[in-house]
Amino acid sequence: MVKEEDRKTTTAATTTGSRASSVSLLVCSAVLGIGAGVGLYFWNRTKRNRTPWRRGKGNANKGVMTKTQVDLLEGYEGKCVLTKKQMEGIIEDFLARMEEGLEREEQQLKMLPSFVEKMPCGKEEGEFLAIDLGGTNSRVVRLALKGGQVREMVAHEDPIPKELMVGTTKELFDFIARQVKTFLGKHNTLAQSGQGKGGKIPIGFCFSYPMKQTGLANGEIVNWNKGFDIKDTFGKDLVELLEGSLSEYKIQGKVFAMVNDTVGTLAAHKFIDQDTQLGVILGTGSNAAYIEGKRRITKLQGGETKREEDKMIVNIEWGNFKSSRLPYLEEDREVDERTPNKGKQHFEKMISGMYLGEMVRLACLRASAEGNLFGGSQKDKLQQAWTFPTSLVSRIDGLGPEKLDQVKKELSAALDIPRAEITHGCARFVSRLCQLVGDRSAALAATGVTAIYRYLMQSKQVSPNQRFVVAVDGGLFEHYPRYPERMQQTFISLLGKEQAKRVELVHSPDGSGIGTAVIAAATAR
Ligand code: BGC
Repeated sequence: MVKEEDRKTTTAATTTGSRASSVSLLVCSAVLGIGAGVGLYFWNRTKRNRTPWRRGKGNANKGVMTKTQVDLLEGYEGKCVLTKKQMEGIIEDFLARMEEGLEREEQQLKMLPSFVEKMPCGKEEGEFLAIDLGGTNSRVVRLALKGGQVREMVAHEDPIPKELMVGTTKELFDFIARQVKTFLGKHNTLAQSGQGKGGKIPIGFCFSYPMKQTGLANGEIVNWNKGFDIKDTFGKDLVELLEGSLSEYKIQGKVFAMVNDTVGTLAAHKFIDQDTQLGVILGTGSNAAYIEGKRRITKLQGGETKREEDKMIVNIEWGNFKSSRLPYLEEDREVDERTPNKGKQHFEKMISGMYLGEMVRLACLRASAEGNLFGGSQKDKLQQAWTFPTSLVSRIDGLGPEKLDQVKKELSAALDIPRAEITHGCARFVSRLCQLVGDRSAALAATGVTAIYRYLMQSKQVSPNQRFVVAVDGGLFEHYPRYPERMQQTFISLLGKEQAKRVELVHSPDGSGIGTAVIAAATAR
């Protein structure tokens, strides 16, 4: 389905398209039918055994690890393999932070009202343009909704240039406007469709950062994350900024809804499955949004309602969760030091794709200095921050301990270290380390989902007997080996086998694009 002349453009003729998102792993591909396809692929794969690793006598060249490497790994294992008790403690803290965030502004969990009150029912219709500013890419999607399906979808995405992530607001929004202009030059039918006020193109804006909204189509940024640090965005209305740049580029558009990517993902799946309760992003960043009874969002000014059935999607911004019970490593502190949003987004930095590689790099650096990893000399490339991509962690974890020759090849190519200097012991160390970092990420993400599930059951908004459908998008979930399977293991450990079956993790490709359009359609109707 990917057009030859434009590899970045995706066309899906029937139900939906797929998302080329995050962790800089891939480009677009088309998928027919939203659903659990990719997820099920992972579910059905067999579980790999735990890595067997042996204690060596200090000579890594014999294919075993040095004693210090083994000790280091034992330390990481002690932290990264979470016990049920630990996870229960994390859930307890998470629930307390949720309640605080619903009551008051500026809490650790921001619990941001999205103003999405009309839940998608599957009857939304129309042609829309979705503009999606993510952590790695900016994406423009034109789609048509009809008869409970995405009838047509064309998408184009570009990586966001690094300098724009720390430049000015105007440069960033002008970049989006230019992208939209080029896209419409190739794919526009919307202007002629006459939808929207005054014949303007109806737009849904997906903004994957925390924002304080006072309505569905207005709001200001709370803080930048995922490497963005643009100082002059604060205090400005994001929709006005977008419409302003679009109009400078002579694009007549009207933004009907501005939503977070988690909100979009939830709405997109709700459009096709009414049992969807939660939207989760596991990609460059991480976060979740759920459907809340409006009465429970006590901090919502003017939102007073007596009606039990009034609902609103709440963007939790779970990335900022922090608890002394989290399995925090020295490397987590070091990763945090290297980020522009130091001291924030602890949970996200332990889970999401932007940070896992850096975490492994720092652990390798330590093992090199203390435990003779890679011959003990501090390799140039390994010393440079952010040079160990999460896609490499993912590949090494996927290869497993049985394919150490391939692990060596990967490491040699990525870190510019001669093959001969990477012993079997080194490869084994890095292989196990990647597995532990992946395990911890999935266990924490699943602990977060379980906390929200418990909250909804405790507040009697979800019955323990009903399906609890969790729509997930993002490159980590989609591409990291056995990620959904690892999450499922955590659900079993926390909820028991029977209850865990009710939690259905479904990959919702292109959730943010489709969901934004669905919400815009629900509003426009
Ligand atoms: C942002 C969230 C977003 C998540 C996933 C986080 O860094 O704060 O708003 O939903 O990334 O993209």
